[in-house]
Amino acid sequence: MRDTPALPDGGGTPLIETEGLTRHYPAGEGGAVVAALSDVTLAIPPGAMVAAMGPSGSGKSTFLNLIGCLDRPTRGAYRLMGEAVGQLSPDRLAEIRSRRLGFVFQSFNLLPRADALHNVELPMVYRGVRRRLRRERAAATLAAVGLGERLHHRPSQLSGGQQQRVAIARALVNGPDLILADEPTGALDTRTGLEIMALFQALNRSGVGVLMVTHDPEVARFASRVLRFRDGRLVADEDQAPADAAAALAALPAAQGMAA
Ligand SMILES: Nc1ncnc2c1ncn2[C@@H]1O[C@H](COP(=O)(O)OP(=O)(O)OP(=O)(O)O)[C@@H](O)[C@H]1O
Ligand SMILES: [Mg+2]
Repeated sequence: MRDTPALPDGGGTPLIETEGLTRHYPAGEGGAVVAALSDVTLAIPPGAMVAAMGPSGSGKSTFLNLIGCLDRPTRGAYRLMGEAVGQLSPDRLAEIRSRRLGFVFQSFNLLPRADALHNVELPMVYRGVRRRLRRERAAATLAAVGLGERLHHRPSQLSGGQQQRVAIARALVNGPDLILADEPTGALDTRTGLEIMALFQALNRSGVGVLMVTHDPEVARFASRVLRFRDGRLVADEDQAPADAAAALAALPAAQGMAA
């Protein structure tokens, strides 16, 4: 187990801090409660790249949803950048989500009828950013993830990897401190998955924290820290030297028809 750190960088506030974080679901008829997550205590510094692993049903998504302020704990405390989110109103939680967090899902969750630009504009609509600035920022963010030529393609007109990059641009466009990703490469082939990991690593080097859930050790090796869950408990928490996704990508045999 990792020692819970004295903060490494001269006492900065952790990005995430939990104490005894617990989420139990009420039982169905006559059953016991489901202990989806039990007593998780950890601190993650800003700019970390963390993988959460564990078997199906071990509590990974439950943990991610709590960290993402999409769900509330049954017990325990959670601070996001020093702010205790447990007692906040739904409005304030939504505000924190939109300002501090970006979400990426296995199935992309894009609006099917909207083009890439419009999908990426949406989080700014909710924040009241004016249309023209929205367009500019959405286009610039899409360009930054390599989709500058695809602004007006709808999701069905994009490959899986391109759709995931639109989703990542959408997650990034409000300048989050932390990207939360649940199986972000789960629907992608190996090469495309590596491209997404290379993008995450580049974002991470620019200071954005990444917390991703994955079943796949091949994906987890790109993180600098690995959390392991089992039966709702955090059973291991270890730092590691991350593999370099761009290098892994370069080492793959040449692909057919891949745009770089
Ligand atoms: N809304 C819910 N109501 C009741 N039980 C739930 C609910 N959501 C999750 N659970 C239970 O909590 C436990 C943890 O679920 P969770 O979705 O966090 O697992 P996971 O590690 O993400 O699994 P997977 O790898 O399959 O996505 C499981 O036993 C699950 O059945
Ligand atoms: Mg899950």
